Amino acid sequence: MTVSSLTVYITRPAAPLCERVCAFLDQRGYPYTTIDVASDQDREAMRQRTGYSSCPLVIAGDHVIGKLKETIEADRSGRLTDLLTPVRPHTAQEGAVMPDHNPTPKLVTDHPEQIRGYDYGTDRAPTSPLTLEDLEQLKQVVWLTEEDEAALRDAAEILADQADDMVSAYRARLGELPWMAPYSNHPDGTPNPEYGAASKPRFDRWIIDACTRSLDQDWLNYQHEIGLRHTSAKKTETDNADSLDHIPMRYLLAFTAVVITTARDYLAAKGASAEQVDRMHSAFTKSVMLHVTVWTRAYVDHASW
Ligand code: HEM
Repeated sequence: MTVSSLTVYITRPAAPLCERVCAFLDQRGYPYTTIDVASDQDREAMRQRTGYSSCPLVIAGDHVIGKLKETIEADRSGRLTDLLTPVRPHTAQEGAVMPDHNPTPKLVTDHPEQIRGYDYGTDRAPTSPLTLEDLEQLKQVVWLTEEDEAALRDAAEILADQADDMVSAYRARLGELPWMAPYSNHPDGTPNPEYGAASKPRFDRWIIDACTRSLDQDWLNYQHEIGLRHTSAKKTETDNADSLDHIPMRYLLAFTAVVITTARDYLAAKGASAEQVDRMHSAFTKSVMLHVTVWTRAYVDHASW
């Protein structure tokens, strides 16, 4: 039996945990009504109906979901959508549906040095034409502060396990645009799963690196390599792939909007407060802009850059 909305028992004035449960349901787009538990009588009525007397408590009809942690789990497992019809958690971009959760492979999270073609910190990565001074100045221009760096470390904890989902969502979006498909597929646009599978662990790893890596010479070198791998200098080379060999810079830049805006739902997926999500999202935005800006050096000469 399904219900049209959830019920959340909350205390008045709302305690922080009550607010977080409601913020989570808001972010995920679930309809709900609240019941204020203001008096002992209210608490007794709640206990009789649910068997519980402490707030917050989320229920769906006769089913007790639980507190924040259980609600997040029920969202993840699909139980909430099963109990609620017809409803679907919202996504940041209308039309860009979040895929089912696939944990990021251990190869990516724990053994990145074993990823094929992942040359970070090795002498296979080229020497970047940029200097550490260029990097420092850019860092100041995107206004990446120490607080941002701390927020990025928090973001890494939340995003690491979702990196694979994020990259799947980017690819799903690119696949919806017929003129974009030949850059990831065969040149005629037909699927090229081998290329996708070979390049995916490196892309997944980038999400973690973007939140955790020090901005040093190794960083500069590998970012230049990523830039080159989007251009005719090196695209398709690492995976020996049959695909178009250059991604126009305009698409690289324009797609940054998708990478940035869609990150918000993933940052919010583990129950962080709205304020903390804001902080992490802002820091992630700056990090992505810094990366993509550095990648553009592979497209243009020193004078234009
Ligand atoms: C902000 C936008 C983008 C980001 C953050 C991004 C990120 C990345 C990363 C991290 C990699 C792996 C690099 C490596 O370590 O080897 C990669 C590779 C790749 N990206 Fe992007 N990318 C972006 C835009 C695009 C666009 C618009 C396309 C167009 C379809 C695209 C297609 C590819 C392909 C085909 C590869 C494999 C390149 C190769 O042959 O080595 N990317 N991207």
